[in-house]
Amino acid sequence: MHIAKVLAPTALLLAVFFVAGANADEAKPPAEAKPPAAAPPASVPTKEFQAKATYCQTCHGLSARGFIGTNPMPRLAGQQPAYIKNQLQAFIDHARLNPVMGNVAHVLSPAMVEALSKHFQALDPPPYGGAPKDLVDAGQKIFHEGVPSADIPACETCHGADGHGKDDFPRLAGQLYPYVINELTNWAKLRGQDPNKPDNSAIMAPYAEKLSKDQIAAVAAYVSYLK
Ligand code: HEC
Ligand code: HEC
Repeated sequence: MHIAKVLAPTALLLAVFFVAGANADEAKPPAEAKPPAAAPPASVPTKEFQAKATYCQTCHGLSARGFIGTNPMPRLAGQQPAYIKNQLQAFIDHARLNPVMGNVAHVLSPAMVEALSKHFQALDPPPYGGAPKDLVDAGQKIFHEGVPSADIPACETCHGADGHGKDDFPRLAGQLYPYVINELTNWAKLRGQDPNKPDNSAIMAPYAEKLSKDQIAAVAAYVSYLK
């Protein structure tokens, strides 16, 4: 992809800068940091799109690799467009509960949702890191083999052997350790909250529920280091 090639070095550089110098709560892109020059679709004016994409970066990081501040801001880089679109819609519908993202998403037009969903796929910053390394081996086993005794299938069945996901199945590779723990621990409270709008969160729900605290921490550590 042409755009990806042009973007990658800048995005990487900015990622390092962002992590070294910024605080998520008051994170603003530094003055010299230009937002990635992604091509918006014809249905969204370029200026409007760039302004929105820059706004997303203030929390999700300049290269969208996520940021751990007071709350973890998940990685969006490399995420499947179909999954991002589903989540933005779920925030708009209040089927997925998060006060911050509820406010962010509900002002987006359908064309902007479509455009933003595709925006992050080409970004490929290195994983944020920071998870306990001693959990990785146990997590690797769960990811690739599941937990047969608890009837939990291998995560790779749906999320891909490389953790990159596909279409509605999200990428987990490089996702932030504390974010994954929070989502899996609180799945039933955060996702699928509108009984009139059943969504894909129901596919993941039984596994999130069956995983123990230790298993969640292990698999979260493993995926957080996947490139
Ligand atoms: C003020 C901070 C903030 C801003 C600005 C922001 N986000 Fe978020 N976003 C979050 C937080 C926090 C979460 C995690 C929610 C949770 O824990 O469920 C999140 C979650 C998400 C998710 C779900 C990710 C996943 O893996 O399921 C998507 C998609 C998303 N944001 C897209 C965007 C887009 C697109 C924009 C710009 C229009 C944006 N966000 C702007 C804070 C922010
Ligand atoms: C049968 C398919 C399937 C299996 C097996 C599966 N998942 Fe999922 N998972 C999904 C789907 C579908 C979603 C997206 C749900 C949505 O759109 O609300 C998801 C979402 C997730 C998320 C949220 C990602 C984000 O960015 O917020 C995490 C974390 C996750 N799965 C971890 C796991 C782990 C760990 C395992 C193995 C123990 C696993 N999954 C096994 C289908 C599966």
